[in-house]
Amino acid sequence: MKEPILKTEELTHIYSPGTPFEMTAVENVSIEIRKGEILGIIGHTGSGKSTLIQHLNALVKPSSGRVLLEGRDINESKDSVRDARAKVGLVFQYPEYQLFEETVYKDIAFGPKNMKLSEDEIDGRVRRAARFVGVEEELLDRSPFDLSGGQKRRVAIAGVIAMMPEVLVLDEPMAGLDPQGREEIMKNILAYHDETGAAIVIVTHSMDEAASYADRMIVLNHGRVAMEGAPEEVFSRGEELRGMGLATPVMTDVADKLRKLGVELPASVYTVEQMVSALTALERGRRGA
Ligand SMILES: Nc1ncnc2c1ncn2[C@@H]1O[C@H](COP(=O)(O)OP(=O)(O)O)[C@@H](O)[C@H]1O
Ligand SMILES: [Mg+2]
Repeated sequence: MKEPILKTEELTHIYSPGTPFEMTAVENVSIEIRKGEILGIIGHTGSGKSTLIQHLNALVKPSSGRVLLEGRDINESKDSVRDARAKVGLVFQYPEYQLFEETVYKDIAFGPKNMKLSEDEIDGRVRRAARFVGVEEELLDRSPFDLSGGQKRRVAIAGVIAMMPEVLVLDEPMAGLDPQGREEIMKNILAYHDETGAAIVIVTHSMDEAASYADRMIVLNHGRVAMEGAPEEVFSRGEELRGMGLATPVMTDVADKLRKLGVELPASVYTVEQMVSALTALERGRRGA
């Protein structure tokens, strides 16, 4: 098993405590993020996903419990907060609304500048990150407000990638994009993962999306961890998932129906690719090849 890099210990977050608006958004959550893994955090709207992940780089402080980065409490000192901000990159939901600099270049450079890197290093990182997400050189001097929605999203992601985080956390990165835009963003994220070996945490409410990339999944329900495990373990609990307002991936439903018809499919079939190879293998076996 891979070593954990980041952990939460009995993390609880209460909004507006002691007021009539008091709301426990995250309750007693202990999770770990392992080096180099792709972790999917899934849950219906309001289950506490965004609140939870905003703790991971000390943007939001726990009401109780701790967040540990390489074993150290990230809220211990100014220094530990700075370290967490550099190592844990957080891309918000609809990050394009948070672009604010006059040029695309300055927007991407914002994070690296705060890390007090040299001008040369910053310049190299900005250009590399832009290239990485497919933002062309010519766009760097333009205003971010001139860009299309998909381009703005890529600029926002480039700004975080330019900090070269060891853990890249993305809150619903595909939300509101068309299928082609979703695929491009996902390709960029996976390329960052493959090239750097960084751990990736992707928040989503789409099971099909999680099925296609996650090594491991955590399911939140009413601010608590309801399930944790490999995708096939989580998806095998379809009844419980539906009870939490989550649909199982389309392919697990298809596989269930085929099993009822007597087709012997393995448990680990939950993406189109897995279905195709499982059926191909059965067909080969049937032909005695
Ligand atoms: N800034 C806030 N102030 C008060 N309540 C909030 C705030 N942000 C979120 N909440 C509440 O906390 C709960 C969890 O929200 P959130 O973390 O955004 O969940 P998710 O990302 O899974 O949709 C919800 O009931 C939401 O209304
Ligand atoms: Mg959210």
